[in-house]
Amino acid sequence: LANSDSEILGKRYPRDSKTNVTENITSKTSRRLHLQLNHPINILKRRIEAHFSNYKVVDSLNPVVSTQQNFDSLLFTDDHPGRAVTDTYYVDSNTVLRTHTSAHQSEVLKTRAADAYLLTADVYRRDEIDVSHYPVFHQMEGLRTFDRKNLEAEAAVHVTGTSIEGAVLSATNPVQSAHTPREAELVDLHLRHSLEGMVRDLFREEKELQIRWIEAYFPFTSPSWEMEVLYRGSWLELLGCGVIQQKIMDEANNADRVGWAFGLGLERIAMVMFDIPDIRLFWSTDKRFISQFASGEIVKFQPFSKYPACYKDISFWCGEGFHDNDFAEIVRDVAGDMAEDVKLIDKFVHPKTKRVSRCFRINYRSMERTCTNEEIDKIQDELRSVTESRLGVELR
Ligand code: PHE
Repeated sequence: LANSDSEILGKRYPRDSKTNVTENITSKTSRRLHLQLNHPINILKRRIEAHFSNYKVVDSLNPVVSTQQNFDSLLFTDDHPGRAVTDTYYVDSNTVLRTHTSAHQSEVLKTRAADAYLLTADVYRRDEIDVSHYPVFHQMEGLRTFDRKNLEAEAAVHVTGTSIEGAVLSATNPVQSAHTPREAELVDLHLRHSLEGMVRDLFREEKELQIRWIEAYFPFTSPSWEMEVLYRGSWLELLGCGVIQQKIMDEANNADRVGWAFGLGLERIAMVMFDIPDIRLFWSTDKRFISQFASGEIVKFQPFSKYPACYKDISFWCGEGFHDNDFAEIVRDVAGDMAEDVKLIDKFVHPKTKRVSRCFRINYRSMERTCTNEEIDKIQDELRSVTESRLGVELR
């Protein structure tokens, strides 16, 4: 493969000055864990699909999308931080690995194939390294639209008599000027009513599940919310949602309709429902992991022994524009899933030169076997040299 190309799902993409995808990341595109029968992500996906049984299922769209799809069509401003190369995997200047399932809203709306759909996909974000962050994860997007002229009949029947805490809209979470207050109220209540029903169904084992709605902001919805549930004593954020910006509906041939959307992270929910302690396990092909879910039911994961961890520190003087995520990317490249956790444990500014020194602690642990010291030392040596050459930092 020419040095200047990336290959993603059998297609070649020339690299340019903005490209930051690595082979370690692009190789994940073919895994499609959400479609692997009886993988926990697949089990959870099917549970939610069973709840929203008359929603159209969309689950095999290509993860390579344009910046237009991922950002512009969703009204992200040009300076929105989500666009930063430190947070997003760019295939080239105009092409990214989707960072969220919302990237497909416009194209799916345009087809007008369904007024309700559930779209599941792998999504990609540059991020820190720890037991709950992985550069690839899975989201499910739900979207529902209504005929504006028939909204009372289509939406109201489901929400009359229900009261949702915090349903009062505020100045910081406004009704769009394109909507009447009644339209916004109906769509918003229908959204939250539908999601509460789904989550209560999903967590049916938990008696009296507590749910709360936190005001949120997304460029593509208003009003917007995050839903949290009280699970084993702590509030867990499950999803983001809101009333779709009418401009998006208008531009996608849906000017006669209004609608809502939500996006939820499947790993986040699967980790609590299946008791999976480390996000890397989802990517494991170890039979001791995958065979536990063969029944297709939601069962508690029985951990096989945890192998010993080994930590190593690395310190260096940073160059300008250094970003922690650039270092995390190198760790992922060199150590792969052996890296369990990377923490910045020290940072200081030299009093005279003003140069910044950082020290990171890498926790190495295989999920499948015990590693030898020599093995870890070799990885750490490689990490030192790649960090030095690729980030242009001065090792200490
Ligand atoms: N796409 C948003 C995210 O990834 C979630 C979302 C989807 C919010 C749909 C509102 C509506 O955070």
